[in-house]
Amino acid sequence: MGFDSGYDRAKEVKEFEESKGGVKGLVDSGILKLPRFLIHPPETLPSSSSSSTRLHLHVPVIDFTGHDVDDRRRSEIVGEIREASEKWGFFQMVNHGVPVSVMEEMVRVIREFHEQEREVKREWYSRDEKMRVRFFCNGDLLVGKVANCWRDTLMFDYQHGSLSPQDYPPLCREAVIGYMEHIFKLKETLSQLLSEALGLNRDYLTKIECMKGETVVCHYYPPCPEPELTLGTTKHSDPSCLTILLQDNIGGLQVLHQNQWVDINPIPGALVANIGDFMQLISNDKFKSVEHRVLVGRVGPRVSAACHIYPNKTHKYGPIEEFISNENPPKYRETHIGEYLAHYRLKGLDGSKALLYFTL
Ligand code: OGA
Ligand code: NI
Repeated sequence: MGFDSGYDRAKEVKEFEESKGGVKGLVDSGILKLPRFLIHPPETLPSSSSSSTRLHLHVPVIDFTGHDVDDRRRSEIVGEIREASEKWGFFQMVNHGVPVSVMEEMVRVIREFHEQEREVKREWYSRDEKMRVRFFCNGDLLVGKVANCWRDTLMFDYQHGSLSPQDYPPLCREAVIGYMEHIFKLKETLSQLLSEALGLNRDYLTKIECMKGETVVCHYYPPCPEPELTLGTTKHSDPSCLTILLQDNIGGLQVLHQNQWVDINPIPGALVANIGDFMQLISNDKFKSVEHRVLVGRVGPRVSAACHIYPNKTHKYGPIEEFISNENPPKYRETHIGEYLAHYRLKGLDGSKALLYFTL
């Protein structure tokens, strides 16, 4: 018998979904115990003996100062990005050009959005993928394959180009537009630096439109009454090419490194970058898309904004020619991001890697 048996999960999920209040709504209603659909099986919980945490290891921190003016410094930065992308799939960036005030504003308005009156917030609640700005709790809540996460999300979809000002919830319009202007610039910088780190021409990834569009998911992890029974985000790797993540100072994000969980401690002013599955695919495993998760605590809320950068939807991609030889045959078949995401979603955030399905 599965741990989910013996109660009407579908009914509980349906009632929760119809409330349109997310997990924040549960906290506001004063719950002291988690509903069953948010409780995770013991083996995936942080307390399980299979998941020790390494405290003395740290994700590389890369200082971007000088990347655009000093050739020697640039090649050092490219080297640091290459090493981090091969060994960790993650790095933290400082002096990346996004002003601290812009990042703080972004965190503030995400929090404000999630903490406003339920009546106003629920107007944005939707699972309709055609809606380019929407609020929801757990992308795969209704799929029902895995236990759900203790977080709510406000999403902005830039995959079909820019949004108009009226598309945004008024209270976060200015801050999100301001933040994204800087992120678009940083994306270009990273596209060039990653191309060079792969040993390709600086404009390679931009030319093949590998970093074309993005979605930004703005998460809110409320303080949790029983944090030992659930997770903020289950173990997963991102389906994107690259993710640029802003996190506040609460902590809880961990990356799986050499089979052990390592904390990605918040550094004031830093942004986190991580390689996604699609980059691992096109680089034929040179760069690694590494699994990560978010723990929740009794204190919070924790706020984060993950900008997932995706390739052109209409192009098919496979391992890049430069990485293929007789000794190093292609590891993956060609696919386009639509097919990849469809498989990723079908699978759910169940801890397995979607990439395996595309191996040759
Ligand atoms: C994600 C993610 C981590 C976080 O959105 O893919 O891993 O800190 N988010 O919210
Ligand atoms: Ni992620």
